[in-house]
Amino acid sequence: MCHPGESMVQPFRHFISFEGIDYCGKTTQIQRLVERLKEHGVEVEVVREPGGTIISEKIREILLDRSHEEMHDRTEILLYAAARSQLVHQKILPLLQKGVSVIADRYYDSTTAYQGYGRGLNIDFVKQLNQFATSGLSPFKTIFLDISPEEAERRRLRKGQTQDRLESGGVAFYRRIREGFFQIAREEPERFVIVPAEQDIDAIADQIWDLVRQWWQL
Ligand code: TMP
Repeated sequence: MCHPGESMVQPFRHFISFEGIDYCGKTTQIQRLVERLKEHGVEVEVVREPGGTIISEKIREILLDRSHEEMHDRTEILLYAAARSQLVHQKILPLLQKGVSVIADRYYDSTTAYQGYGRGLNIDFVKQLNQFATSGLSPFKTIFLDISPEEAERRRLRKGQTQDRLESGGVAFYRRIREGFFQIAREEPERFVIVPAEQDIDAIADQIWDLVRQWWQL
């Protein structure tokens, strides 16, 4: 029997996650990294959150639907946790156990930053829920791509995209989330690495590649 907060699994070196506020460039940078990893013969899978399994993708639709304005903050966090739990147990853990490297496009730090610091839910509870949903599976390292909320808004407007339910929270919401990520970095400096992400895309990709090469001894 696993109690909330109790870890059931050991950290896997070949499990890393990417974090950041919306429009930080995670998806582009993950693609670049995967290309380089494949060139080096690394077998790697990318999972995105919320999503990555049939059940988790259905939960994603509920979470991001703009018409669900009435969603309560507690409902929201439980849905993120449910989507992650399914992804971890159905997909991430079996892949890691087979020796496949896994890169997560968001993981539990997003819940701490968005639902904890952004929405104002109790941080200790959020961390316990994160541990419970994942059976204690932590990323070996996390790359936090840092941009300002103002830059995120400029990027969104440039792309001409409408806001999803989360994004309609505004700049103040994103400031709290960014501060939340900085707080995680202060608490876990060994795991949580800040990469400034307003610079040139190639320069960021090179910096990430240097880090991953070091961590995975490539
Ligand atoms: P994405 O745009 O990176 O696909 O993420 C979807 C949205 O969900 C994004 O606005 C961040 C938000 N989110 C949370 O609020 N909590 C979480 O735990 C996760 C994984 C994402």
